Amino acid sequence: MNYFTEDTSEAAVLSRLDDGVDPRFREIMESMIKHLHGFIKDVEPTMDEWFQAVQFLTATGQICDDKRQEWILASDTLGVSMLVDAINHRRPDGATENTVLGPFHVDGAPERALGDSICLDGKGVRCVVRGTVADEQGNPISGAKVDVWQTNDDGFYDVQQPGQQPDMNMRGLFTTDENGRYEYITVKPLPYSIPTDGPVGDMLVAMGRHAMRPAHIHYIVQAPGYETLVTHIFVKGDPYLHSDAVFGVKESLIVEFHEIVDGMRADFEVKLKAL
Ligand code: BEZ
Ligand code: FE
Repeated sequence: MNYFTEDTSEAAVLSRLDDGVDPRFREIMESMIKHLHGFIKDVEPTMDEWFQAVQFLTATGQICDDKRQEWILASDTLGVSMLVDAINHRRPDGATENTVLGPFHVDGAPERALGDSICLDGKGVRCVVRGTVADEQGNPISGAKVDVWQTNDDGFYDVQQPGQQPDMNMRGLFTTDENGRYEYITVKPLPYSIPTDGPVGDMLVAMGRHAMRPAHIHYIVQAPGYETLVTHIFVKGDPYLHSDAVFGVKESLIVEFHEIVDGMRADFEVKLKAL
């Protein structure tokens, strides 16, 4: 092996991979090294620019804790989360489309009876959500678990405002009835900003991008023998549907919220793919 030069950089690093390395890990590392060296050769960063990149990576790690995950935010805003999601959830026509989980899901949402409200702070426009969980052929699935969460009327998740919002505000776990139906009360979701007080926020400003997500309600739907579905419903007519900061919108997930005398109503059908 020759010494490291600009021309042989990639080969020099690849040659250090041990023969006994796990084949999948080798595949990943080889591709990563190839693309990383290609990227550097493409942009030819100055020393200052490379140091800025190192500072960005450092700051992204340093702001993370058990509640704040800036790396997920970086992956989301660069479209990487949605790409990994798409690759891993290629579903047949008719099955409900997946979209990103996001950093604000919490395990252990309270189990609620059908028709209960998830809104514990009393703010916002009351809204009834009714839906059905069915298999790809349209047969209803009873006993499916429907885990929903959203921001409150101020545009924050409960975990972003500990002590200000009731714990588990705007979260609930529902079980479908014998006809695969579920129903809950919430408030009409509003568009909100992803966190911008960290390096990802600075990156968005530098790119001339906004940080808004269109109004949505998150779902995880699970039933024994079926692939788990992670998705959202989006509010038809939202001004950010075409510029979601995390690229999460899919046309099939946009739902009309019908105005009724005592609030709003949204209808959503969830179709699960069998395992
Ligand atoms: C969310 O919708 O909760 C979310 C998704 C990705 C990044 C930030 C927030
Ligand atoms: Fe969200």
